[in-house]
Amino acid sequence: MRTHYNTEVSEKDIGKEIRLCGWVNSRRDHGGVVFIDLRDKTGLIQLVCDPKDNEKSWKIADSIRDEFVLKASGKVRYRGEGLENPNLKTGKIEVVVDNLIIENKSLPMPFDLGDERVNEEIRLKYRYLELRTKKNFNIFKLRSKASIAARNALDELGFLEVDTPVLTKSTPEGARDYLVPSRVHNGEFYALPQSPQLFKQLLMIGGFDKYFQIAKCFRDEDLRADRQPEFTQIDVELSFCKQEDVIKVAEHLLYSIFKACGHDVPKSFDRITYDEAMEKYGSDKPDLRYDLSMVDVIDIFENSTNEIFSSIAKDKAHNRIKALKVPNGDNIFSKRQMKGFEEYVRKFGAKGLGYFQMKEDGLKGPLTKFFSEDDLNEIIKASKLKVGDVVFFGAGDKKVVLDYMGRFRIYLAELMDIIPKDEFNFIWVVDFPMFEVEGGSVKALHHPFTMPKDLNKENIEEISSIAYDIVLNGVELGGGSIRIHKEEIQNEIFKLLGISEEEANEKFGFLLEALKFGAPPHGGFAIGFDRLIMLLSKAEGIRDVIAFPKTQKAQCLLTQAPSIVNNEQLKELGLRVRKTVMENKD
Ligand code: AMO
Repeated sequence: MRTHYNTEVSEKDIGKEIRLCGWVNSRRDHGGVVFIDLRDKTGLIQLVCDPKDNEKSWKIADSIRDEFVLKASGKVRYRGEGLENPNLKTGKIEVVVDNLIIENKSLPMPFDLGDERVNEEIRLKYRYLELRTKKNFNIFKLRSKASIAARNALDELGFLEVDTPVLTKSTPEGARDYLVPSRVHNGEFYALPQSPQLFKQLLMIGGFDKYFQIAKCFRDEDLRADRQPEFTQIDVELSFCKQEDVIKVAEHLLYSIFKACGHDVPKSFDRITYDEAMEKYGSDKPDLRYDLSMVDVIDIFENSTNEIFSSIAKDKAHNRIKALKVPNGDNIFSKRQMKGFEEYVRKFGAKGLGYFQMKEDGLKGPLTKFFSEDDLNEIIKASKLKVGDVVFFGAGDKKVVLDYMGRFRIYLAELMDIIPKDEFNFIWVVDFPMFEVEGGSVKALHHPFTMPKDLNKENIEEISSIAYDIVLNGVELGGGSIRIHKEEIQNEIFKLLGISEEEANEKFGFLLEALKFGAPPHGGFAIGFDRLIMLLSKAEGIRDVIAFPKTQKAQCLLTQAPSIVNNEQLKELGLRVRKTVMENKD
């Protein structure tokens, strides 16, 4: 229908007859002449409908409204001295319309398309309208570029793209499953995959050697700004590999994607162990775009005359006393802010938040009276304090302290606005523990198919695994591991996780059986593709980079899914809904 996209037209085309298509972005009437900003995916161009040039087109133009769909043909001309619009790519020219066709009308817009303050419920209900904006189009252009770059990069390395089933059996990635009832086998259910984890391992046993897939994953879990119930992973697996080989593939993949999207990032990234990340930054996904790190001062506090601190300091295995220095903090924070900090950390289980201020004449603050001069000097040395610095202390149970001090570190960085916005800071976090113990129950920190490093440790929490995460700007972008390829080790892990032989056979019998048929050593990783695009496009949340996202309550406001189904369908599936719909909604 068209000869050009809008922004392809330039001064070079002056005098040419062209045809354009698009939507009415805006329409103005100046002294009887109608000016239309016509929009397509590339941008805007000005159409002019003057009764002196073409009476019929002008009459049509007079009746159009915003977001009508037009086909226009006419001649390109120079706008004239002083009439150029420097903000538009096509700002020097305009098209004098000789034929205007309204291809479709539009109701008035339910909201102002570019206005991001509009309630999300309305924006998501009319998501297809919001997608018309340039900002949104650019996000999806970037997303497309990134997925093509990922495919090309992995293809170059000899990876094969293979689809795996969506109607399948549960894969344990730590969330609840979405279940699909079977009509043919009443009372039985498929689970939607939380990831293709088990299938990619089976492909390795199938001899494919190098697999990838841009895969849809489904997890029924509490949603956050970087979580959706349905999301996409770039999922990769390879055989006869060590951690080093897998990391190299991931680095090449990320480098290639960022390059295709116009960003030069390093070809390999620094690494930090899980323990170091937790101890220094209180997080297994530390944001290293800014400094602020913690040091251990438990030994110094052991000598304090404050009983609370000294008794905490006695149990070094389970407790921590951490110092977090804020350079020049004494000159940055007001008294009121300092009080607010304690309230902030209390929300995450802190019993209090001690601090010292480094003044010209030494350390000051409510805690100084509990320390000897020597110990105060030790604190100055350990935290490398300079005049004007403030140092905060978190003390108590290791897990709790690391958690709230880690959050506090981010809170302070945001408050002080010290986080560089244009940097991409990658870091590998390696040597994850194999298990975590929560309320007495043992869970796999990654997943139960991860290869442990040494199973002979007495304390199960000390067993580490060959597992790694890639973190970008404080967001867990992806993760992976070397897998267990021997049935005996897999059985041992199930045992430690408290999964009985029966349960293991019922849930993963197919994998255990496959491991008996010459499973090669293998490993891999998965990158959260939506998170990647969120960070690449500097979007606020993951929903902005998914064409049709779900709300915090896992609803699609556009299609109204999930929705009730009729009794006939339920009957076929052998199901009956027990609660009334209203009760369910509550
Ligand atoms: P994991 O569970 O760590 O590993 O997931 C890998 C990456 O997927 C992204 N991700 C999510 N993105 C959006 N919404 C969610 N609900 C969500 N959950 C996870 C994250 C995360 O880092 N099978 C393993 C990978 C492997 O071992 O190879 C797995 O799925 O960016």
